[in-house]
Amino acid sequence: MDVKKTIIPAAGIGTNFLPFTKSVPKEMLPLLNKPALQYVIEEGVSSKIEQFIMVTSRDKFAIANHFDSHSELEAWLKEENKQDLVGNLEKIRRAATFTYVRQSEQIGLGHAVWVARHTIGKEYFGIMLPDDIIISKQPALTQLIQVARQEKSSVLAVQEVPAELAPHYGMIAVKKQITPNLFQVSQIIEKPSQKDTPSNLAVIGRYVLSSKLFDALEETNAYAVDELRLTDGINSMMKNNEKVFAVKISGMRYDIGNPIGWVKAIISMALQHPHYAPAIKAFLNEKDGINSFIYNQAKNISHEQS
Ligand code: G1P
Repeated sequence: MDVKKTIIPAAGIGTNFLPFTKSVPKEMLPLLNKPALQYVIEEGVSSKIEQFIMVTSRDKFAIANHFDSHSELEAWLKEENKQDLVGNLEKIRRAATFTYVRQSEQIGLGHAVWVARHTIGKEYFGIMLPDDIIISKQPALTQLIQVARQEKSSVLAVQEVPAELAPHYGMIAVKKQITPNLFQVSQIIEKPSQKDTPSNLAVIGRYVLSSKLFDALEETNAYAVDELRLTDGINSMMKNNEKVFAVKISGMRYDIGNPIGWVKAIISMALQHPHYAPAIKAFLNEKDGINSFIYNQAKNISHEQS
């Protein structure tokens, strides 16, 4: 089984980051010097994805510009011998194509995936949610593709979470445990209360799904009221006999869908980065020293009223 295409839903308003997101897509928030979305694309390219289908909306042009070539900039970088400043972008362009599909109203994750249905044939395809940045030795999507191939079925990424976080996630009900990290799923319950959660396994933003999902979403849509949920589509696909598995992903996941998660991701990544780590470590450890401007009052700028 080949998985060559991946849908990336990136049409959301980015409410948690307003007013920043009024004109800049939240997917372009930087993590150190790279936009968050580039980490996701790099994970996809490392997983041998050849076509990214980006579901976007108005005010998201920066995404398409970022992954397109920029001849003046590239010529200048070449002249200055500084091509490495744009890092992997050229490699990404050589490895994959980008298709942009507009979702004109934001009515659920299932709907965002459904508007890209014409780009997927009778094949298994990936979905990557750009709020989840996963740093791992083996790319998270590759971990899913391997299971999809082995089981000839759909696969979800899951992570163990404490029960009090269940209301933030789709939580899986386990039909059968196959290995310590692999489960067959009987149902996903979207954002259950702490006491109603069927397990401690939360769905995180990576999926490999059968194209049967689109028929399933269409069935669901017939009675959905104000939102078409991806979870409902996957549940209805399972009812129609598509097996769905869940893999506990190995790696470090950052949820950057809100400012606190984003800041945590930056600090954690900086502390692991050979170039940034020494300065950031010194800054976090020193309260009054030369590196600190937060705690050192003498270095704070104050505008006293005269
Ligand atoms: C979505 C899915 C949910 C999943 C989560 C992972 O929710 O609906 O099942 O657990 O992504 O990040 P959202 O975060 O869009 O509310």
